[in-house]
Amino acid sequence: MLHNMPITTWPLLLIALLCCALPHEATAAEPKTAGPKVAEPNYDEAKIPPYTLPDSLVADDGTPIRDAAMWQQRRRPEILRHFQEQVYGKLPGRPAAMRFETTEQSQSTLNGKATRKQVTIHFTREADGPKLNLLVYLPSTRKGPVPLFVGLNFSGNHTVHADPAIALPSAWMRNDETLGVTDHRATEAARGAHAKDWQVERILERGYGLATAYYGDIDPDFDDGFQNGVHPLFYREGQKAPLADEWGSIGAWAWGLMRAMDYFESDNDIDARRVTLMGHSRLGKAALWAGASDPRFAIVVSNNSGCGGAALSRRRIGETVHRINTAFPHWFCGNFKKYNAREDELPIDQHQLIALMAPRPVYITSAEDDLWADPRGEYLAALHATPVYKLLGKEGLTAPAMPALSQPVMSTIGYHIRPGKHDVTAYDWEQFLNFADRHLPKP
Ligand code: GCU
Repeated sequence: MLHNMPITTWPLLLIALLCCALPHEATAAEPKTAGPKVAEPNYDEAKIPPYTLPDSLVADDGTPIRDAAMWQQRRRPEILRHFQEQVYGKLPGRPAAMRFETTEQSQSTLNGKATRKQVTIHFTREADGPKLNLLVYLPSTRKGPVPLFVGLNFSGNHTVHADPAIALPSAWMRNDETLGVTDHRATEAARGAHAKDWQVERILERGYGLATAYYGDIDPDFDDGFQNGVHPLFYREGQKAPLADEWGSIGAWAWGLMRAMDYFESDNDIDARRVTLMGHSRLGKAALWAGASDPRFAIVVSNNSGCGGAALSRRRIGETVHRINTAFPHWFCGNFKKYNAREDELPIDQHQLIALMAPRPVYITSAEDDLWADPRGEYLAALHATPVYKLLGKEGLTAPAMPALSQPVMSTIGYHIRPGKHDVTAYDWEQFLNFADRHLPKP
């Protein structure tokens, strides 16, 4: 947890107080697996080793990428394959037996402001097989299919709003006294506990729907050798764990978001061509990977996604590849471990994850005190994705220097940094909504 803070600059007492006040369990675990010692985190720009970013507009064999067709047919698939094989792991497709079940619906809820739907996406034929429970709110003011925000939540659908009708999750959850989670099961205690992170009423007021699901439904966030969650559904005969180039947990969360998109396409109240995918922190990493893998997402918002998300790996500042792979060995694919303390050998860097979204709009955010996630590295990745957008006739990020605090830039690649810590705030949501207003295709 301490590593969410710029520990070199904060007095210890203040750190302790802030840690107690953190809203959810999204914290840095100390490396727990054996192996070479992970270097102490660096927070000093002057100590970043020199590095060269891979060029998005030069193919692996040195051929310059001159136009949109060459990008689409040649370079984009090459970069996508590197991310699939070396970083997040390959994803399976939509399960043949997948089906949607609306388990609850109310035409008028939240004081008449919303329609609520609770939908179970069953990944198998069996009712007790792995499933994803979606909570959907749609504005009552809608006249037709609505644009929607979708995002996974950290602690259960019941935490996003105090609405008593939201079903409690039944999937494994990390024990957490402040949320009343004991024996790894959610309880009533956390109902509405993360309402601030979701701003449901504000989203509805602005004419958008919101869909959310608990990320642990897809794959519980701990290293169990991929025995629980959705991975075993896809094992070939005799397979016991994903291969080195197959999906880890971030891949699974991204895959779950793609299955939610399958549902949106089947719901006439939702405009599936206008879905904005938002993810915070580790779920921001998953959102970027889902957006890169699935062009149906119209916009992706990465909030404080940091290492393995929007931040450049080669900067090695705050959280590094070695540290994230050691603390969270289940997040990325097996091959990603090859790059522990060897970032320069990566065939790609994270600016190219953003470029995979092109020409679709993408919004990257940072928080001033979130040095663990490397705000400057997030900005630079957005900036260095720009040449691909330009090749495709879009402006990319129009801020050649890092914007000042609370000065959102709303070009095709958008960016803001706000004061404060690693978090999702009402301010952040206001910008996501502004960005979506500005960039979603018109109905
Ligand atoms: C840890 C982890 C980050 C991650 C964050 C979160 O801090 O080191 O990579 O983004 O947890 O998900 O909140």
